[in-house]
Amino acid sequence: MALAYNHDEITPRELKPALLELEGISRETVEAHYKLYQGYVNKRNEILGKLAGVDLASANQVYSELRSLKLDLTFAVGGIKNHELYFEHLGGSGGDPSGVFGELVKRDFGSAAAWRADLKATGLAGRGWAWAAYDWDEGRLFNYLGDAQNAFPVWNATPLVALDVYEHAYFVDFGTDRAAYIEAFFNNLDFDVVNDWVQRYGIRT
Ligand SMILES: [Fe+2]
Repeated sequence: MALAYNHDEITPRELKPALLELEGISRETVEAHYKLYQGYVNKRNEILGKLAGVDLASANQVYSELRSLKLDLTFAVGGIKNHELYFEHLGGSGGDPSGVFGELVKRDFGSAAAWRADLKATGLAGRGWAWAAYDWDEGRLFNYLGDAQNAFPVWNATPLVALDVYEHAYFVDFGTDRAAYIEAFFNNLDFDVVNDWVQRYGIRT
């Protein structure tokens, strides 16, 4: 019996023109980064196609194959979601968080500066990602750490800021100075986009 998978293909989202004119993060970096994102979309499509062809009749062999495909799927899908957040909320003018997100930050971290310092430190401590996420069970924001595309910290939390700290996000522009890149990331954040997400998900202070 083959696994019954609906494996409709998806296509990458287009890159917003504003992403090619960021402050401190070059067009070269963004274009190469966007190609990586396209790669995750292609990988997701390819893996779902392969999963649809897995024959469960040869069980023992299948489980190792299945393990590998399903792990790769989480990595590819994580890579898609993380980068869609990342690209979507860059292209703004940074500053202190505004609107409802700004209120959440003040309520849960005390100040915008404290929130930023915590997210920056989390980004310096992590291998791949740091996210500011609203945790629905806790009813508050946390800056969570992720080491890989598929190392999601917790269920039932909605990421609102996605800080990519893989070297590919900054090495061309900043060398090993990840801290300077994180400052540039903050300077390019678009809090209107973040507040649209806060509203869309019905998060309230
Ligand atoms: Fe990335």
